[in-house]
Amino acid sequence: MRKVVVAKTAGFCFGVKRAVDKVYDSIEKNGQDKQIYTYGPIIHNEEVVKDLESKGVKVINSIEELKAIHDGIIVIRSHGVKKEVYDIIQKNGLILEDATCPFVKKIHNIVFEESKKGRYVVIIGNKDHPEVQAIRGWSGDNTCIIGTEEEALKFDINPEQSVSIVSQTTFNANKFKYLVEIIGKKGYDINVLDTICNATYVRQTETANLAKQADVMIVIGGRSSSNTQKLYEISKKECNNTYYIQTIKDLDLDNIKSDSYVGITAGASTPNNIIEEVHTHVVRGKF
Ligand code: F3S
Repeated sequence: MRKVVVAKTAGFCFGVKRAVDKVYDSIEKNGQDKQIYTYGPIIHNEEVVKDLESKGVKVINSIEELKAIHDGIIVIRSHGVKKEVYDIIQKNGLILEDATCPFVKKIHNIVFEESKKGRYVVIIGNKDHPEVQAIRGWSGDNTCIIGTEEEALKFDINPEQSVSIVSQTTFNANKFKYLVEIIGKKGYDINVLDTICNATYVRQTETANLAKQADVMIVIGGRSSSNTQKLYEISKKECNNTYYIQTIKDLDLDNIKSDSYVGITAGASTPNNIIEEVHTHVVRGKF
């Protein structure tokens, strides 16, 4: 008999699920009378964005576009936004649906408060990432973003200045530690606030554990999703029969024996219905 187990942490993390649900709830409640916008695509998943589009949701891609809108509902995604966006929403009389992940919002509050205390803020993260840009927007002038060893080595401010360090929620924990160590050796009075979210770590650990037991592993996610690629690598290390699929169409059941133990996991932007579809297909598949 085939045994099929879906990882508990497969797919959306808490913050992304909350944001996507908020848009669908909003469509249900207000879709008939109000135009709904998301500030940036709600999630890095084309299927979800297309589905929302078909239900009338529009994506705003810049502050300029937002400034020109004077009616409707704006949903802020889990990455959060800088203060200016809230100000425009208020000024233009728009209705706000804030789906900023509470873990991200906590970082906004930290950098705001630390800046107010006169501390220099270092954000460890990728400077092009929207989450990091939003965090930057809540911090004072004395702030910098560090994402590489080189940047950490170059960090050089007034030695009297105290420093508070935060991290992008999805930054690699080991790299964060390493960069903090480099800055720590420079002799500043530093306060390290580890704001990494453990959703990614928990998903990866569960994938490794499941792959250790399974005969076949199925990893579901977009080809360009870096966190899904990472899950695939982790799984492949423990289970040679690991398959990377985007949707059910890529799945060849001939590769799975009738008595196999099959583990299923999915990247952070894979919607639940795709995971369920694959699950059902593998359970009911030909034997
Ligand atoms: Fe997700 Fe929020 Fe963590 S969006 S990865 S639960 S910080």
